[in-house]
Amino acid sequence: MTELHRPTPLDPARHNRDGFDSGEPILDEWLRRYAGQNRRRDTAATWVIADADEVVIAYASVAMTGIDRSAAPPRLLKGAPDPVPALLLGRLAVDLRSAGLGVGTALAAHVMATAVELNEKAACRAVVVTALNQSARTWWQRLGFDPFYPNDPAQLDLYLRTSEIDATLRNVR
Ligand SMILES: CC(C)(COP(=O)(O)OP(=O)(O)OC[C@H]1O[C@@H](n2cnc3c(N)ncnc32)[C@H](O)[C@@H]1OP(=O)(O)O)[C@@H](O)C(=O)NCCC(=O)NCCS
Repeated sequence: MTELHRPTPLDPARHNRDGFDSGEPILDEWLRRYAGQNRRRDTAATWVIADADEVVIAYASVAMTGIDRSAAPPRLLKGAPDPVPALLLGRLAVDLRSAGLGVGTALAAHVMATAVELNEKAACRAVVVTALNQSARTWWQRLGFDPFYPNDPAQLDLYLRTSEIDATLRNVR
């Protein structure tokens, strides 16, 4: 396996995103066209894993969010305000050439660790994600995420309580 850098904030001047191909053109285009713009506007932060040549092989975008109490699963509700404070993992994609090497898991673990840090500084009850499709939903569940609506497979929203992240990270590392 080629040498990889640790997750780092996207630096448009340094990181090469031109050939990024996750197999999902919408996610690839977002990295190229909108990641920098969202960072400048403080609406989403993009973290990347790059190879030794600074070519991006994976990225994740994150932003603060709030979960409406009316939509929150019971396990997120107890004693929580409306909305429930959370971290949104908006997008996560790995270049096909690096698929299956644990890079996606490593980047997801990095975002989970970020939620733990944020929770200490500002309170963050959960990480939430909307899976791209059914297959991705299974991928998130493998990492410990639970569906908002377990009985409706068509619903792709999932969450992981911050209090469960340490245990989850011990399992995936
Ligand atoms: C889903 C994705 C992020 C996985 O990244 P990755 O680096 O290949 O995954 P990892 O190497 O960390 O994990 C590999 C494991 O996940 C499984 N896996 C990989 N892609 C999967 C998918 N789409 N659905 C279910 N399982 C998947 C592999 O079979 C492997 O399982 P194993 O450890 O039992 O062998 C990547 O395939 C991707 O970018 N897909 C397109 C975009 C997408 O679906 N993003 C999810 C965001 S909602």
